[in-house]
Amino acid sequence: MASVLTIRGGVPLKGKVSVRGAKNLVPKAMVASLLGNDSSLLRNVPEIKDVEVVTSLLRLHGVEVTKDPVTGDLSLDPTKVKTAQMKDIDAHAGDSRIPILFCGPLIHAIGEAFIPDLGGCKIGDRPIDYHLDVLRQFGAVVEKREGGISISAPKGLKGAKLSLPYPSVGATEQVLLTATRAEGITELSGAAIEPEIMDLIAVLQKMGAIISVQTDRVIRIEGVPHLSGFNHRALPDRNEAASWASAALVTQGDIYVEGANQPDLTAFLNTYRRIGGAFDIDDEGIRFYHTGGKLSPLVLETDVHPGFMTDWQQPLVVALTQAVGVSIVHETVYENRFGFTQALIRMGASIQVHRECLGSIPCRFGQRNFLHSAVISGPTQLQGTDIDIPDLRGGFSHLIAALAANGTSRVTGIELINRGYERFQSKLENLGADFDIA
Ligand code: EPZ
Repeated sequence: MASVLTIRGGVPLKGKVSVRGAKNLVPKAMVASLLGNDSSLLRNVPEIKDVEVVTSLLRLHGVEVTKDPVTGDLSLDPTKVKTAQMKDIDAHAGDSRIPILFCGPLIHAIGEAFIPDLGGCKIGDRPIDYHLDVLRQFGAVVEKREGGISISAPKGLKGAKLSLPYPSVGATEQVLLTATRAEGITELSGAAIEPEIMDLIAVLQKMGAIISVQTDRVIRIEGVPHLSGFNHRALPDRNEAASWASAALVTQGDIYVEGANQPDLTAFLNTYRRIGGAFDIDDEGIRFYHTGGKLSPLVLETDVHPGFMTDWQQPLVVALTQAVGVSIVHETVYENRFGFTQALIRMGASIQVHRECLGSIPCRFGQRNFLHSAVISGPTQLQGTDIDIPDLRGGFSHLIAALAANGTSRVTGIELINRGYERFQSKLENLGADFDIA
């Protein structure tokens, strides 16, 4: 039975939350363990659905995954890896996109992989063409099957000279996980260089990989025949940290985020300061708080790292509904990432979405029918309402809008939040939120 969160708004969130390992690194490091010829230990692992999905997929393939009952650390033993039944893989994959990253490691380990049709947040078409293109260039044979694709490499995987049309995080991870044990050198141009990518490179380097990253987004990997296991502490989740920071602004609160790491949040912190948010940084985390003054509108453009991260814009848009004036957000990474604004408009926000590129640079979605720019006028008083959560980050933005709104909101679909926010209900409770769950 799906749970319903009943939120009584108007209560400033105050207190401390801890963020642990990044949702967008931990599952990838778990997949990387398949490349090792002995066990790996992954630390700072959050209790989120995406980790559960990858745990079950790895176990399905014969990997022994053991979770420390106290610390949550995962030990992963890939030495008995085996192929798995297509129907079982499909049943376990859920709506995660991680299965596509099993290709390279499974081909290296057992010569083949079956990848079910992928899920993931409905924020765009979410194609995997870049992934399949690079796998073919490594020498893999990709065949479309009922319910997914099967991939093999009869002649083995060989290093290649690759170039991505767009710095895709997933496709860059695909190359890293395939090239490290491929024969020869791989050169990837147009690579993603997000902090989670750099942390995955750190994991692979610990295993014995030889990977260099150049300033011009070229990553060079020298294939090695064998990799060992790794012992790694995952970097903290910068997207969760930014989400709680926006929650502090929206509810006029004061939240200390233990684990927030300034270097991963530079673009976010600059924007936070511009809008009128305040933050104090210490060695263990960052305190984010509303100063009691007016919030200022701004023009914001999302971009790949080191730009303003696309996952940060949804919660921040809620804060912009409270800014005094007109703000513009140009979403350049995903074509359809403003669906969440419908619920905010129902709550009283003044937001229009447009198909034009309302930013400094025309992006891939200009002159096509994608409503990928938003104009937000504030301040508007938000009223509680019934909300069904559309996706992970949009869902968090609905939660904080409900927490700031006048009156009561009934929120369904909160299971989606569990995919990426560890124990968010207890965190909300600790911050003084007034809600019931049924
Ligand atoms: C990762 O998704 C993250 N997810 C996303 O976070 C994040 O928003 C995104 O990177 C960008 O930083 C995980 O790491 C699990 P992409 P990914 O490949 O790898 C297009 C969250 O909320 N593209 O960088 O799927 C794609 O359509 C999630 O935590 C192709 O066209 O993102 C998009 O427009 C949301 N063909 C753009 O590239 C491909 O084969 C960026 O996608 C692959 C991608």
